[in-house]
Amino acid sequence: MKGIILAGGAGSRLFPLTLVASKQLQPVYDKPMVYYPLTTLVENGIRELCLISTPHDLPRFKNLLGDGKNWGLTIDYREQAEPKGIAQAFLIAESFIGKDPVTLILGDNIFYGADSFKSAFDDFKTGASIFGYRVHDPERYGVVEFDEQGKAISIEEKPKAPKSNYAVPGLYLYDNQVLEITKNLKPSPRGELEITDVNVAYMKLGRLRVHKLSRGFAWLDAGTSSSLHEASAYVQTIEKRQGIKIGCPEEAAFRRGFLKLEQLESLAAKMPNCEYRDYITRVLTEAKR
Ligand code: TTP
Repeated sequence: MKGIILAGGAGSRLFPLTLVASKQLQPVYDKPMVYYPLTTLVENGIRELCLISTPHDLPRFKNLLGDGKNWGLTIDYREQAEPKGIAQAFLIAESFIGKDPVTLILGDNIFYGADSFKSAFDDFKTGASIFGYRVHDPERYGVVEFDEQGKAISIEEKPKAPKSNYAVPGLYLYDNQVLEITKNLKPSPRGELEITDVNVAYMKLGRLRVHKLSRGFAWLDAGTSSSLHEASAYVQTIEKRQGIKIGCPEEAAFRRGFLKLEQLESLAAKMPNCEYRDYITRVLTEAKR
């Protein structure tokens, strides 16, 4: 399965921070935001990636992540000239996707919780798999309604009167039919190709699975100044308490076997003396025990 990280958009709610760097390059505690969604994909076994951003910001992402080879990955880049909707990502990345299934993650979505996506990725064969996460303010998101058997019966984008408290987070898995479905979409009244319309199309075909995420799972969206601050505080709390790092792509690549121990050692050796290097060194020491 291929992986797309969508990291464009206007980021207007973070103004004036976004004059300095795009939203997905802002720090979330101790790393750039894009490290978190990248790590989520790598943890779930995705190693062929494509990052999409604005023509203005794309060079900075290339500087930060390079071609991915150092991490045992391949990273392609594509431009989104204007923010014309999340689903436009599939059209932009069509040549990257080829004939494969694809997962898309939003560059400002941060997930934390043991193996929550594992079965969705491991069991994925065809159709679409998305997630449902209970929130107190569902009207800000795509909202999924379930019947008594737990089957999704409606999905609505930012509804004024939500039919449930389950929001759809920014991680989606699709078979290759997503290309055909997206090509047939019409832009919504706000002029965007809506990811919710893709999900509704799969639902109508009877090919959509919605996995409910458990209560202990954390989904943070870092799109406003206060949610960005809260995400940083959350990451700091967990990292300090547990002595682990959330959103460390090198560690995830190593644990998935994309990087050998010696390769991780040589990455650490090239890092400046900092907490991040101390952490990688600890991962290495524990792996050698
Ligand atoms: P949003 O948070 O809806 O939009 P935004 O990032 O432009 O921010 P703001 O509302 O403050 O102006 O987008 C969610 C994510 O999807 C975010 O990571 C940006 C990304 N995105 C794109 O890359 N291209 C798009 O066309 C859209 C709509 C979103």
